[in-house]
Amino acid sequence: MCGIVGYIGSREAQEILLDCLKRLEYRGYDSAGVAIVSDGEIDVQKSVGEISVLESQIKKISGGAGIAHTRWATHGRPTTENAHPFISCDGKYAVVHNGIITNYMDLRERLIEGGHRFTSDTDSEILAHLIEDAEGEDLFAKVVKALDKVEGAYALAAIDGGAEEIVVARNESPLVIGIGHDENFVASDVTALLRYTNEVLYLHDREVARVQADSVEIYDLEGNHVERGTQKVSWNLEDAERSGYPHFMLKEIFEQPQAVHESLLGRLGSLEEDPFFSENAFSSVKIVGCGTSYHAGLVGKYIIEELSKLPTTVQISSEYRYSSLSEEKPLVVIITQSGETADTLAAAREASRRGCRTLAITNVLGSAITREADTVIYTRAGPEIGVAATKTFVTQLIALYLLGLRLASSRRSISSERRRQIITDMRALPRAIQDVLNNADAIESLTTRSAKSQSIFFIGRHINFPTALEGALKTKEISYIHGEGYPAGELKHGPLALLSTETPVVAICVRDHTYEKMLGNVREVTARGAPVLAIGTEGDRDLEKYAEDVFLVPHVDPLFTPIPIIVVLQLYAYYIAKKRGCPIDKPRNIAKTVTVE
Ligand code: G6P
Repeated sequence: MCGIVGYIGSREAQEILLDCLKRLEYRGYDSAGVAIVSDGEIDVQKSVGEISVLESQIKKISGGAGIAHTRWATHGRPTTENAHPFISCDGKYAVVHNGIITNYMDLRERLIEGGHRFTSDTDSEILAHLIEDAEGEDLFAKVVKALDKVEGAYALAAIDGGAEEIVVARNESPLVIGIGHDENFVASDVTALLRYTNEVLYLHDREVARVQADSVEIYDLEGNHVERGTQKVSWNLEDAERSGYPHFMLKEIFEQPQAVHESLLGRLGSLEEDPFFSENAFSSVKIVGCGTSYHAGLVGKYIIEELSKLPTTVQISSEYRYSSLSEEKPLVVIITQSGETADTLAAAREASRRGCRTLAITNVLGSAITREADTVIYTRAGPEIGVAATKTFVTQLIALYLLGLRLASSRRSISSERRRQIITDMRALPRAIQDVLNNADAIESLTTRSAKSQSIFFIGRHINFPTALEGALKTKEISYIHGEGYPAGELKHGPLALLSTETPVVAICVRDHTYEKMLGNVREVTARGAPVLAIGTEGDRDLEKYAEDVFLVPHVDPLFTPIPIIVVLQLYAYYIAKKRGCPIDKPRNIAKTVTVE
């Protein structure tokens, strides 16, 4: 989705805003713009394309207050006219916005009747005109009045020629205020601010804040003052930079041993302690999520059913509301790395409305889902900047293993011996991932043919069927090759018709109870002439007889095989995209955090 930033203080705002904006580029990169207050006037500069384009064209404007925006188009094409910031007709107010104003058509018509001139097709522009028209002695009062008329989702920042304050507001789109020394910052995401501060204040829904250089005041939309302490973010700037890697995605893939280690730290010994589980008994589990988080949920079904024996269903967040109501109240597990995905937040609210207890798995402290859910498991992956999720997926799986074990404890559904074994195996996972990473060059050499193909199939069975889906998603997201994940047994019911010598098939053939059947499926594929890359378990010398290419991963318990396998598939997708010259960290048309339904 779009990213917004703001700065007020004694330094040059333009430089700081461009720097922060670049760190938000993963939220949108079709156009960008900056508004700076200089000598009582607001100067707005915008351009189409990535932030580097804006940076190369921008005229230096001196001033200590400003706002900026990077856009991912929803209403109106990516053009300079539709880029933010928007300015009021009288030129006195500028605004940047992330979200969707649902009643903007009505408001726009009324504003046009009232004599306002619109320069864009966006829903966001109405905010600048509403603020101009609103009654109020200062910018803060005018923004509050303007928001009275607005329905929908917003994170917005507004300035006026006075340069005294930035006014920000939030409803269903993320917004964080960074606290500095005699300077303050505003951003959609804390990663934008880490160079400047790690002390932050999260704005909640239907709140508005007056941000001045030396103070921040928060109010709700009814005008009540809100007291809120600041939070220290443990992430540092290095976490949010590429540190010598050519892409964030590669850096984040290589950070996975550490991310898993962090996600396990101190948790395996304290599984019994969470009162949430002792106070609530569940007879089933429902998992919701979107994209990669949905795939983590699909793996989670196998984990939770095996460990806790609780029947588990998984649903895409945007479909959850259409599911029929049942009498029983499952534990609803909401998976979202950002904690801000609109479809997933809506599902969480729907689950609460149905009287279900909710547990969120998220990577972002202070994100919206942490306020919606009854309890939270944080994934501790550190900031993930690449649009394609990698380390957050793997740490979501870790959270699901922990959850499965926790449920198993309260239901006494596994023996203490099995439990001990699982805990030992989990501790060894960072090493297994590292072993795969140490062979990244070998994976790269397996991508030459695939990089030239138009379509790649990924097949697996049981717990590695969702791993295949995630491998396919990675490939299509970043390399623009059609990737399709399939349960291996289902190929013969249709997709075999699509296979040819030009269609690589990646087959997950680990040594578990699916192995023999997987070999049968590989034979079906090779009989159609399709080249197979089989991913198997170390020590397996038989696979070479069946598949053209083989890559072996360290032996882990069958329950944990998705972890080393997905690391292979992440690298496979990465190297294909690299060979094809794709913009890996910022794939076309998709954004990391989608705050519209
Ligand atoms: C977007 C991203 C995906 C991500 C999905 C869910 O579509 O491009 O990579 O998996 O949102 O995001 P969440 O933050 O809820 O996990």
